[in-house]
Amino acid sequence: MNTILDTPQSLNGISITGVTNSRLSTIDMDNIPFGRIFSDHMLVADCIDGEWQAPEIVPYGALNFTPAMSALNYGQSIFEGMKAYKRPDGAPVFFRIMDNHKRMNLSATRMCMPQIPESIFINGIKTLIELDRQWLPSGDQGALYVRPLLFATDDYIGVKSSDNYKFVVFTCPVGAYYTKPVNLLATKEFVRASVGGTGAAKAAGNYAAAMMPDKMAKSKGYNNILWLDGKDHQYIEECGTMNVFFVIGDTVLTPRLTGTILQGITRNSVLRLLKDNGYKVEERPISIYEIEAAYNEGMLRDAFGTGTAASIAPINKIGFAGKDMQLPDVADRKVSTWLSDTLNGIKYGQITDPYGWMSEA
Ligand code: COI
Repeated sequence: MNTILDTPQSLNGISITGVTNSRLSTIDMDNIPFGRIFSDHMLVADCIDGEWQAPEIVPYGALNFTPAMSALNYGQSIFEGMKAYKRPDGAPVFFRIMDNHKRMNLSATRMCMPQIPESIFINGIKTLIELDRQWLPSGDQGALYVRPLLFATDDYIGVKSSDNYKFVVFTCPVGAYYTKPVNLLATKEFVRASVGGTGAAKAAGNYAAAMMPDKMAKSKGYNNILWLDGKDHQYIEECGTMNVFFVIGDTVLTPRLTGTILQGITRNSVLRLLKDNGYKVEERPISIYEIEAAYNEGMLRDAFGTGTAASIAPINKIGFAGKDMQLPDVADRKVSTWLSDTLNGIKYGQITDPYGWMSEA
């Protein structure tokens, strides 16, 4: 049975065409797969010849375009990922939304696309979530995943940056992205990004280019590739869905930012938490051979990924050169367990947020 809604015609200055029947009551919120369930509404704003038009909220659904659309042909398309959480009083709160806005505009610069004004990005998302706030799941790891998307809409197949773009934001109630500790395969066979390329941008093409290697990794029992650098083919980068961290002895290591990996907001939060709580942390090149040597000496204590979708995801094993490095039981992982508990505590309002990371937008 669908719920009949009485939606306002505008909110925070944004015009709304509401659904008449919400799909919410048909969704099993205790059993939500990642990324397959979409809430009732989406935000849409066009940028025409450099001029942003007024954003609108409309029912979630199909968009209309032709096969000549620039984004489909040449891949000028970027996105973001962020989460809204339900505060104990039921109000939606965002985790570091301003940083997502900044990063989306960095991606836009690299991909020769227009900057998205704060008034459209922040006010648009805040209004969309206010309208669809009933879609915020409760529970342990539940959140409303927010997916802002910017893509080129010119009907033109000459190779040039588009004159017109569409900004769309849709949301999905989600639980955990990885339901089990992840298995990663490090290989020299493929490269995700090189210095000077687009590796730091959340460009759709970066994800497309990873799909064939990831499929190969999956066929061998791994979840994803653990990417190595494009020059020496030995320095660890990221895993496509997450930044990565390793604990060797009592030192926490993560690859530094060189323009080839995503400037993860969860990565940055983890670094801040670790440094402020007296952990020894190093951001530097990490060779896969260093990880292998630490593993052989029994010094590889923990490894985990960080990302918006994945949160803190323990790594179960790392395959390299025909062998698997099996990480300790998750129950014995002090660093990633502490990080996960602390970050979740801040996000769900159980721990005071000392950094101003949580906001109503
Ligand atoms: C995110 O963590 O939000 C991402 O964009 C990664 C994606 C693979 C879900």
